[in-house]
Amino acid sequence: MGKFYITTPIYYVNDIPHLGHAYTTIACDVMARYHRQIGVKTFFLTGTDEHGQKVQKAASEKGVSPNELADNTHKTFKHLWEKLNVSYDRFIRTTDDDHIKAVKYIFQKCYENGDIYLSEYESYYCVGCEEFKTETEIKDYDYKCPIHLKECEKVKEESYFFRLSNYTDRLLKFYEENPDFIQPDFRRNEVISFVKQGLKDLSVSRRRDRVSWGITVPFDENHTIYVWFDALTNYLTAAGYPDSLNEFWPADVHVVGKDILRFHAVYWPAFLMSAGIESPKKIFAHGWWTVDGHKMSKSLGNVVDPFKVSEVYGVDQLRYFLLREMPFGLDGDFSHLAVINRINADLSNDLGNLISRSLTMVHKFQGGVVYNYTNQTKLEEEYREVYLKTLSNYNIYMKNLEFSRALEEVWQFIDWLNKYIVKVEPWKLNKEDREYLKTVLYVIVDGVYGVLWMLNPFMPTKVMEALQMLNYNTVPTSISPFSFRPQTEINKVSPLFPRVEIKEEEKKMEEKKDEVKQEDFITIEEFARVNMRVGKVLEVQKVEKSDKLLKLKVSLGDEERTIVSGIAQYYTPEDLVGKSVIVLANLKPRKIFGIESHGMLLAAKDGEKLTILTVDREVDTGSGVS
Ligand code: MSP
Repeated sequence: MGKFYITTPIYYVNDIPHLGHAYTTIACDVMARYHRQIGVKTFFLTGTDEHGQKVQKAASEKGVSPNELADNTHKTFKHLWEKLNVSYDRFIRTTDDDHIKAVKYIFQKCYENGDIYLSEYESYYCVGCEEFKTETEIKDYDYKCPIHLKECEKVKEESYFFRLSNYTDRLLKFYEENPDFIQPDFRRNEVISFVKQGLKDLSVSRRRDRVSWGITVPFDENHTIYVWFDALTNYLTAAGYPDSLNEFWPADVHVVGKDILRFHAVYWPAFLMSAGIESPKKIFAHGWWTVDGHKMSKSLGNVVDPFKVSEVYGVDQLRYFLLREMPFGLDGDFSHLAVINRINADLSNDLGNLISRSLTMVHKFQGGVVYNYTNQTKLEEEYREVYLKTLSNYNIYMKNLEFSRALEEVWQFIDWLNKYIVKVEPWKLNKEDREYLKTVLYVIVDGVYGVLWMLNPFMPTKVMEALQMLNYNTVPTSISPFSFRPQTEINKVSPLFPRVEIKEEEKKMEEKKDEVKQEDFITIEEFARVNMRVGKVLEVQKVEKSDKLLKLKVSLGDEERTIVSGIAQYYTPEDLVGKSVIVLANLKPRKIFGIESHGMLLAAKDGEKLTILTVDREVDTGSGVS
């Protein structure tokens, strides 16, 4: 029967979940459901990463304790997983007692094995990544983190170190002996070349007076354990560590985004080697969803909310889209139009029509009964072959986490079935050969049954609805050609995937706007979507060929923006440089006179007079306005 242990990264609780988090988690859910379906004993772990500087900082900015923040945000993640039908077996929190015990134990173990020592560190820390950066990594970025574009803080303090440098050769040997450990292959090569450069020892603690929100080093209460050392251990905690590890260890696959591959493929196996524990079998790093080519980020205001998208399009439609649209491992761009196209073309047209058309024929021509197959022609022979080939490729792709290819296989089969209907023309057989019609309708329904089985991990709710139309209440553990129960009386047919009219979608957005107008109120949540910040004007130029526009370079503290503003009649460039202004930061960027303007200055206008808004007292550039 075998076992299968799959994990998502555990998500930071400094902020609410976005589509990227949903993507990883849905992918793992599909894998978990697939393995359960084929009868493999499965354990699916997800959870939240609650300690560390990032959470400590976010909590203090929000004026709550880290504990309160974690308590609230972890619930939002749980709520989202429930909504998206995520069938996890455990939701781990790094503040769980058994986890704290496991982290202390493994830290002590690495210490006793001589791999942890006290020294002093001087380097740059990115709180966003929760990682020390070397000077070389950030020098070219004005000492900002290349990912978060925020200033790294210079840290000079006493710290415990893990002797990662001792593991360079062992890791390289491990990668060589386990060629499947890092997937996809091109990521494996990246990791190997990084390790080949030689590894430096890794700081694995922070002084408590700097980072207090963490697990205490078991032998030194002045230190808390580095959040990544803490977080990675969650995979072991859930498998029973430090008591005897259960049957699920080693994990079969840790699914992660490409941003956190190094932690999983380099540091994690080194920690495990030090503690004498077997490494996981595979780390799969998937790509990123971008929006209009930009990485999703709060300051760009382009974060896609999975609660909303699933509400508008449906949970199963979203699950399908995410895994069909871009190959798992590569990056892709999210757009509403792409979702709508997938729903209409793949789900409504190809799949939905196949199901409703075939079941309607069973009702119309055979009083709702699917008989058995009796006589077979070459076409039914071909059906058998296509079915078997689809199933075998599907299984291979699913095991390799190649979701989009697995789905392509299923769609080729759907295509074959739709063409079969056109070829055999059941409506003619109804008049000319009712015996062969029995075979034909059986074959079509048997094909649909096979398709549903293969789609079940992706769209469990819709598949169950369809199976119920076929008079099945459970999903079988295996299928094969001609495995549909003959002499079945099927149920009423109802549409599974209504088409989404593009206009309707736009209309919905318009209706929402109208609602606002009518009530003249917005909710606090709606207001919270508006991101206004204090900016400092760095440079101003007139926009050529325009007497109204000025082009401003504005600092928002952690980034610089170009903003085109229609204030040339009221301000000269000299008036503005050095001024603190209020910037609407998450306004969709747009081109004005060929210049990409990214934000808007707020101003008050009284007839002919215009004055830009500024602050009454000195505040840090980038401060939020609310
Ligand atoms: N807490 C760490 C992980 C510790 S695991 C031992 C962390 N958390 S996170 O909240 O930042 O989540 C990162 C993960 O979210 C990424 O690895 C990826 O799985 C997912 N994604 C976040 N943004 C994403 C996209 N824009 N696109 C796809 N997935 C992304 O890192």
